[in-house]
Amino acid sequence: MFRSFALAVLAAAIMAGVDAVKLRVSETVGAASSPHMYGVMFEDINYSGDGGLYAELIRNRAFQGTTSVSPFTAVGGAKVATVTTTPLSSALPRSMTVTGGSGTVGFSNPGWWGIDIKVQPYTGSFYVRGDYTGTFKASFQSATGEVLGSVEIASASTASGWTQHNFTLIPSKAAGDSKNTFTVTYDAAGVKGGSLNFNLISVFPPTFKNRPNGLRRDLMGALAELNPSLLRFPGGNNMEGQSPPNHWKWQNTIGPLKDRPGRQGTWNYPNTDGLGLVEYMQWCEDLNLEPLLATFAGLYLGKNVIAQNALQPYVDDFMNELEFLMGDTSTKYGALRASLGYPTPWKVNFVEVGNEDDLNNGKDSYNSYRYKMFYNAIKAKYPNMTIIASFETTMSGLPADAAKDYHTYNQPNKMINDFTKFDRYDRAHKVIVGEYANINKDSAKDMWANRPLYPWWRGSVAEAVLAIGAERNGDVVIGLTYAPLFCNLNANQWVPDLIAYNADPSQTVLSTSHAVIKLLSNTRITNLLSTTGSDPPKPLYYAAGINSKTGSRILKAAVYESRAAVPVTVTFTGVTAGTTATLKILTAPNENSNNAVGAASVVQTVAQTLTAAADGSFTYSLPDMSVSVLEVKAAA
Ligand SMILES: *[C@@H]1O[C@H](CO)[C@@H](O)[C@H](O)[C@H]1NC(C)=O
Ligand SMILES: *[C@@H]1O[C@H](CO)[C@@H](O)[C@H](O)[C@H]1NC(C)=O
Ligand SMILES: *[C@@H]1O[C@H](CO)[C@@H](O)[C@H](O)[C@H]1NC(C)=O
Repeated sequence: MFRSFALAVLAAAIMAGVDAVKLRVSETVGAASSPHMYGVMFEDINYSGDGGLYAELIRNRAFQGTTSVSPFTAVGGAKVATVTTTPLSSALPRSMTVTGGSGTVGFSNPGWWGIDIKVQPYTGSFYVRGDYTGTFKASFQSATGEVLGSVEIASASTASGWTQHNFTLIPSKAAGDSKNTFTVTYDAAGVKGGSLNFNLISVFPPTFKNRPNGLRRDLMGALAELNPSLLRFPGGNNMEGQSPPNHWKWQNTIGPLKDRPGRQGTWNYPNTDGLGLVEYMQWCEDLNLEPLLATFAGLYLGKNVIAQNALQPYVDDFMNELEFLMGDTSTKYGALRASLGYPTPWKVNFVEVGNEDDLNNGKDSYNSYRYKMFYNAIKAKYPNMTIIASFETTMSGLPADAAKDYHTYNQPNKMINDFTKFDRYDRAHKVIVGEYANINKDSAKDMWANRPLYPWWRGSVAEAVLAIGAERNGDVVIGLTYAPLFCNLNANQWVPDLIAYNADPSQTVLSTSHAVIKLLSNTRITNLLSTTGSDPPKPLYYAAGINSKTGSRILKAAVYESRAAVPVTVTFTGVTAGTTATLKILTAPNENSNNAVGAASVVQTVAQTLTAAADGSFTYSLPDMSVSVLEVKAAA
């Protein structure tokens, strides 16, 4: 069946003038490839953390960075407002006061543009202060006011201090959509003094691996499908901050939530920092990711640069952060880590000094002192650390073991030129592709304007060309991380993104680029194998290698603009007649196809089993605009 199909395609290809590609892959195992080739990059952009991956369901739970009580609304004739009297903690100076009304009163919150309600245990908590005798009722309600589940919580509240009330709410019914609210009510008659104050009103659904204060199961599942091996965090522009003092500060992101002040993020909204340093490390643990920890390096997005004579405290602060993560419990910050319940040190092997420091007036100061001050301090204490410069710096005196970061937001026809970028690379330094994406069609004159909401097939294939070019140079390329990772469909100015979602997990969109990374990342090349025969690139962009753990030989290929199917014959030295191989080919109906809410994926996967011919070769045909992986399993 396949054979005749292949012959038909072969005939068509010959008529269309596509040369057959004949490859011979040698048995000589080449340089080791980076084990971190496919990773993920995260920053809290457009509700990627809060309102996104971070599973908290309540929006504005602690009134951080805003005097507004919105989106909380009052229930039962009461009034809600923020107040700064009797703060819950120095980190959380503001709380919500609920005043007046009669009978059943309280407040309601619609979540981050909705709340997903299933029959499962929700873990909740709120702090309250005020004299109240009676019970609180926590409930979920649908848009029509139907109560989907509720739980009563006996009041322990007093006027003299804040009392935490914990509860578990298991709805009796799943909601038909996510237009639901969370409500806390109580009997106004039981309140002495006219009002109650509330803060840190928090509700979590079951989280990934049941981590307290954890991450959304469905979105972590979408990442797990990518089989990633590295996490670059905590940004990105959000780590830099817009202006002093709003860069990301690790000390403010650890410990009990009531001690985390949050901060004004870069993307016009305050971050709760509920997703903090420890949560990032747990994310790495849960998906087995190598952490790549970036540090603020003295440049704000708004172009403020910390002067040389004022930078040392920031360097020291990062050294403290590393000690918090890696120090033993006899060290000051290792002891702090242990006091929070994490006695076992983590291990960090990769750090990045800043983010895109060549932009926003940062380049000269970075090249003259900022990178080196961080490098020298880190290297002195952690001699094996890979210390990545945040752009492709050409600074004089760049240490030999420094790595660089290449970012590319591009258009497909230009991105494919990067296939040979790393062949031509100054191989003295390793490089990570810390951010990449095709962000507009080739026809767009201004690439930054009017960008598509979702990755589309042509862009995704061109990204495969970049990725395969990186894999061909897996000895110098540390890895690639698509950016941005996440997009909340309710606040999505930065598009396209790898995964788009809203409060309703059934509406999550795994993009065409997600499908491509998933295919390429799930078959890892540990060592390159040299290849003779047709030279890439056009139109078959390929990399051949071996997975030394499984013994599989692998040929990854993207076909970009061949205008007809490409006949491929590949011979792996040492593979004998009758050996079988699996071939997976991804295609889409047309190059503008994209995935979208509510629709099945446009990406079609064809899986075939091939058998080696008498001379050990495999012959197959790859359609135009396709991404494929051929895997020859080691003989048993
Ligand atoms: C509420 O739950 C948290 C998290 O499990 C716990 O630390 C805290 O002690 C609990 N508070 C009360 C009053 O039970
Ligand atoms: C650095 O790496 C070398 C070689 O792998 C190893 O022997 C040494 O213990 C490492 N040093 C530290 C501080 O981890
Ligand atoms: C989303 O991010 C963009 C920057 O890419 C920013 O301009 C915009 O204000 C953000 N939107 C929201 C709703 O925060």
